[in-house]
Amino acid sequence: MNIDNFQTVVVETDLLILGGGMAACGAAFEASHWARKNNLKVTLVDKAAMERSGAVAMGLSAINLYLGLKNGKNTVEDYVEYVKNDLMGIARDDLVANIARHVDSTVHLFEKWGLPIWKDEEGNYVNEGRWQIMIHGESYKSIVSEAAKSSLRELGENGQYFERIFIAEPVLLGDRCVGAAGFSVRENKFYLFKAKAVLDVMGGAVHIFRPRSVGEGLGRSWYPPFNSGAGAYFTLKSGAEMTCQEVRFVPVRFKDSYGPVGAWFLLFKSKATNAKGEDYMETRASELEKWAPYGTSKPTPANLRNYLMLLELEEGNGPIYMRTDDAIRKLVAEIPDEKEAKRKLKELESEAWEDFLDMTISQALNWAAHNIAPEETPSEIAACEPYFISSHSGASGAWVSGPEDLAPPQHFWGYCNMTTVKGLFAAGDASGASSHKFSSGSFTEGRIAAKSALAFCVDHPEPFEVDPSIIEEIKQRILKPLAVFETHHSYTNDEDVNPNFIKPRMFMFRLQKIMDEYAGGASVGFRTSRMLMEKGLEYLQFMKEDADKLAASDLHELMRCWENIHRLWQAESHIRTMMFREETRWPGYYFRTDFPGMKDDWKAFANCRWNPETGEWEMVKREVIE
Ligand code: ADX
Repeated sequence: MNIDNFQTVVVETDLLILGGGMAACGAAFEASHWARKNNLKVTLVDKAAMERSGAVAMGLSAINLYLGLKNGKNTVEDYVEYVKNDLMGIARDDLVANIARHVDSTVHLFEKWGLPIWKDEEGNYVNEGRWQIMIHGESYKSIVSEAAKSSLRELGENGQYFERIFIAEPVLLGDRCVGAAGFSVRENKFYLFKAKAVLDVMGGAVHIFRPRSVGEGLGRSWYPPFNSGAGAYFTLKSGAEMTCQEVRFVPVRFKDSYGPVGAWFLLFKSKATNAKGEDYMETRASELEKWAPYGTSKPTPANLRNYLMLLELEEGNGPIYMRTDDAIRKLVAEIPDEKEAKRKLKELESEAWEDFLDMTISQALNWAAHNIAPEETPSEIAACEPYFISSHSGASGAWVSGPEDLAPPQHFWGYCNMTTVKGLFAAGDASGASSHKFSSGSFTEGRIAAKSALAFCVDHPEPFEVDPSIIEEIKQRILKPLAVFETHHSYTNDEDVNPNFIKPRMFMFRLQKIMDEYAGGASVGFRTSRMLMEKGLEYLQFMKEDADKLAASDLHELMRCWENIHRLWQAESHIRTMMFREETRWPGYYFRTDFPGMKDDWKAFANCRWNPETGEWEMVKREVIE
């Protein structure tokens, strides 16, 4: 493709929302209210179509964050304590509390918009666990995105959303972020968005580590494959301070199709055992004492649940099974009336299948393909490859300002959810150290961040210009992989093999192999050390050089090139931060063989920043403030 034929489209707005997932939808919904009051423009840009984009695209069977404050069962403080314990003491109280105190109203909105939430006979929500409620959520994202789109439409010409535009780079002016640049994945158009405030809600990252799914299963993952690190790349490249870039998430899931385990553990009260039928949470309880006080608190942190399971595998006690059959048998046995017991069995069977059909349809296919009836047969579970998802049980993302009324002075710099770069805000998987926000909390954090970003627009109304030569330079850089391909592709008769360039698919395989083997991926049991990471970093530097020779034969591949550049930066910041933290704090997520225990002086945040002026990485330790 000839890049001279690309049209340049410049869009000017006040608030630019980058992303189309749950946090972006929350941002669009909330922003439309404040934008109307202040006559400001709001523009949202999604790489895909909002109806089915982001982590909730496939649907969900539960909303994992609902406090039910009005029923008086839980308090915001209880939630902060739960989150912090799950993350082994590392979390921002101010950010977690801010989301928790507002999340219930978000869930009530979802219900008003048509999301079916399970109800008991008295009309109360059905809890899965203490914080989780059950939903019929196959169309969860469609319902929420429609509400977000209609609130933008109601703004008239002050509200716009663009779909199928891939954002590649931030646009910076002095110490401020003033926009974003990208391209349409359907038309030959380069886009430059100019904005007074930018909200990065572009999600976390998958396919940085070699996945367990290979060959015919390649591309399957637990977290959506299209979340490729744009969230972290955008703030990193803007020079924003990042936090918890070492805190990956390794979920335990039904093996091979990544079906969720939450409903089984919490709603059906199922147990997981080794192949001999031993419940490792009981037989290995003494191991948890080594990780006190977190390991000995309830519930046991997710990473430690993983860790006990990994110890079983190391000793040759696999496969690991979810005892779905025992759980169902036990629930039915509690009912004395035979007819009622039969009805209950049918109901449980249907709930078990719906759990997958709501959010991981392929797991239902997997059960069907392997003749598994959950009421009769246990199912294998396994630890997935690592992901970057701070809305669930990871924590990586930008270091953002807390709310004025809750944040200690060290955590407040003028606008809630603003990063350390002026005018650049982050929420959802793009903001760090506030785990367990899940779908409802991400939407809520999007609302909080958008309101605050619009306050920034009101306070900073001065117009500014981006020099046309800068726009042209960014355009040439972003479209370069098309030019590389155009110049060299006829040199060989197989497009994938060419000494002058590398295709994004091969580039991704190379990155995944390095991360897997040197940075503690699934194939090495999530173990790494300084020496391994140093070697891994050395290889990543070669990849950075080779990134200049990425080649794209069409717009789709151009997107793939940029996705992998984004992944590379997430990968580098991850290794650097794991190296900086000289201890093991989340043994079931990664284990440093050279520092095998937890250390008191590392009860701290490990933050990093790439300095755009020097091109150097800066590492800094920050206190955890209770
Ligand atoms: S989901 O995103 O796929 O639904 P997951 O299956 O991990 O998540 O669990 C759903 C919710 O239940 C999350 O809030 C998770 O932390 C919690 N959870 C899962 N398993 C357990 C467990 N064994 N003990 C306590 N909480 C759990």
